[in-house]
Amino acid sequence: MINQIVKEDLEQIHSSVAVDKLTDATVLVTGCAGFLGFYIMQYLVRYSNTLGIRQVIGLDNFLLDRPEWLMKLENEFPDLLDLREFDITRDKISAIKSAESATHVIHMASVASPLFYRQYPIETLDANIWGLRQLLDYYRESNNLRGFLFFSSSEIYGDPISSEIPTDEEYRGNVSCIGPRACYDEAKRFGETMCQLYAKTYDMPITVARPFNNYGPGMRLGDRRLPADFASCVMENRDIVILSDGLPTRTFCYISDAIIGYMKCLLHGKYDYFNIGIDHPEISVRDLAGIYKVVSDELLGIQVSVSFEQSNDSDYLTDNPNRRCPVIQKARSLLNYDPKILVDEGVHRYLSFLKFEKEVI
Ligand SMILES: NC(=O)c1ccc[n+]([C@@H]2O[C@H](COP(=O)([O-])OP(=O)(O)OC[C@H]3O[C@@H](n4cnc5c(N)ncnc54)[C@H](O)[C@@H]3O)[C@@H](O)[C@H]2O)c1
Repeated sequence: MINQIVKEDLEQIHSSVAVDKLTDATVLVTGCAGFLGFYIMQYLVRYSNTLGIRQVIGLDNFLLDRPEWLMKLENEFPDLLDLREFDITRDKISAIKSAESATHVIHMASVASPLFYRQYPIETLDANIWGLRQLLDYYRESNNLRGFLFFSSSEIYGDPISSEIPTDEEYRGNVSCIGPRACYDEAKRFGETMCQLYAKTYDMPITVARPFNNYGPGMRLGDRRLPADFASCVMENRDIVILSDGLPTRTFCYISDAIIGYMKCLLHGKYDYFNIGIDHPEISVRDLAGIYKVVSDELLGIQVSVSFEQSNDSDYLTDNPNRRCPVIQKARSLLNYDPKILVDEGVHRYLSFLKFEKEVI
């Protein structure tokens, strides 16, 4: 049975996305088993009838996890969902017969959690460069392609200088090309260059999304990104441990708002690039911990304290941006994107979801 929070979120996504643009679509999704895949796959598959989708092809090498929710979705929709263990850097897309008829491609394959991409730096580089290149080459002559979405990242801006925060799409970034995060940041930057060149050279409908700190259901408790770390402390009734001075600030975009933005990017159908996130409130890591503390008390009756420790990992904070806050005016005006769920409500939704689903995530 589908979790009530996820059900409401999927309805919210559906009510905000143009329903006619996916008629007769075949959608190919790489990296479908991850956090964002949790909502994207369920949305495409569970709403396939209303949307008129013919087939969803889900590819993932299951590098970090082979999630139960995805296997259940495959069992529930065996004729619609073609799920494959597939490494986008090594396996040949041409070996998948139905890939040829894809009308929409979503390239998400890439480890996104800093702790894990530093454990798999070459794999991360490859997924964003050679994986993307394979897809661009395969689809560049396609007559079926109506939309191609590349997941870049807000990390392409690195640690912006103060005058560039909030950050709009035209900021060129302050990024280290050899630091511990470079495998991710620079691969996303080069990926964006490839997207721009292929869109221009082959007239491909490529849209680039730059996500800013998403969180919510589907984020594994062991993911090691901040919202998941705090959630796992709460669910295990441990103190919330902050591995910094807690002063860096972020805006946190709840998953359903973010997915609406990504779907709008996919359906844009022409080359452009968009910040997708929420522009307020910009809060510190300490503030976020405070929200988890209040919500866990109110919602779960769990009292936790907030404490500070130093990470064992000497690179944990290297090149970590001090402030991250997007300007989303471009997506607001061109895509009609309008995120609404503020962080208190989002954390409440995430913990409400986990209250019932802890064991499957
Ligand atoms: N979630 C965010 O806040 C956020 C922020 C910035 C960028 N992004 C980008 O969005 C995309 C999805 O993010 P996410 O949070 O779902 O990440 P995630 O790490 O939860 O999931 C990524 C998925 O990609 C798969 N994968 C990795 N390498 C692969 C390969 N070579 N072949 C096939 N599959 C492979 C992994 O197994 C995993 O299931 C990523 O490209 C990420 O860089 C996300």
